[in-house]
Amino acid sequence: MTEHRTITPATPTLPDAQTVTQVTHWTDSLFSFRCTRPRSLRFRSGEFVMLGLMGENGKPLLRAYSIASPAWDDELEFYSIKVPDGPLTSRLQHIRPGDQIILRPKPVGTLVLDALLPGERLWFFATGTGIAPFASLMRDPETYEKYDQVIMMHTCREAADLEYGRSLVESLPSDPLIGEFVGDKLKYYPTTTQEPTARMGRITDNLTSGRVFADLGLSPITPAVDRGMVCGSLAFNTDMKAVLEGFGLREGANSDPAEYVVEKAFVG
Ligand code: A2P
Repeated sequence: MTEHRTITPATPTLPDAQTVTQVTHWTDSLFSFRCTRPRSLRFRSGEFVMLGLMGENGKPLLRAYSIASPAWDDELEFYSIKVPDGPLTSRLQHIRPGDQIILRPKPVGTLVLDALLPGERLWFFATGTGIAPFASLMRDPETYEKYDQVIMMHTCREAADLEYGRSLVESLPSDPLIGEFVGDKLKYYPTTTQEPTARMGRITDNLTSGRVFADLGLSPITPAVDRGMVCGSLAFNTDMKAVLEGFGLREGANSDPAEYVVEKAFVG
């Protein structure tokens, strides 16, 4: 992991420009970055915005990115894959502190606490960079005010791909701002599917086999108790919907809260 940080952001000059303050490369194909936050930007943890760079044709090249930082943070954080021939991420992966990015301050999304009916346990199900909205929600005091237990299931092909989430989760109980809210409410269940590690398997399989409940000492998912949020590839989301419907949960939305919500993880 390599990290670059700067303290004094340059003055933005482009419309909707924000200044990069920190970049962390987690693997050859994953990085996170922080940038200044527009004063006008109010968002709910779990939402996404459009961000990017100025294209060579002078038009902004923007993609949807979940905000990974919590609503109370002075800065914004994002977590991204690096696609070698991706129009945006092939360039975005080279940003350095002091560089400018374009960010449209219009947050939207379905992975918000308001889209769920009250419950006791909240499950976050993510593959790959789909953990980004949960990096925000896991740092939001409201998550712990509304739920007795929060379970973060994250699956990647290899162990190194889990590190962004792992280091965040491990930092939370002792975090000076959010630690007292987190307490012992947050349970973490990371697995790999391609590299042999202590815990393996797809989230869907670990739910349907009951293995995750046995490993964490929890009762199986039931609509009276559990709420879920899903963020991953299209195939993962489709399969997860079937699994959660199998447990009796119904899909909700901002306008019609229910027991679970789904959003596709964005690829730049
Ligand atoms: P697997 O290695 O068994 O395909 P990807 O990089 O392809 O998006 O996958 C990220 C992670 O999500 C991998 O661990 C992958 O497992 C898992 N995954 C992909 N598709 C599904 C699915 N339909 N259901 C459950 N897990 C999935």
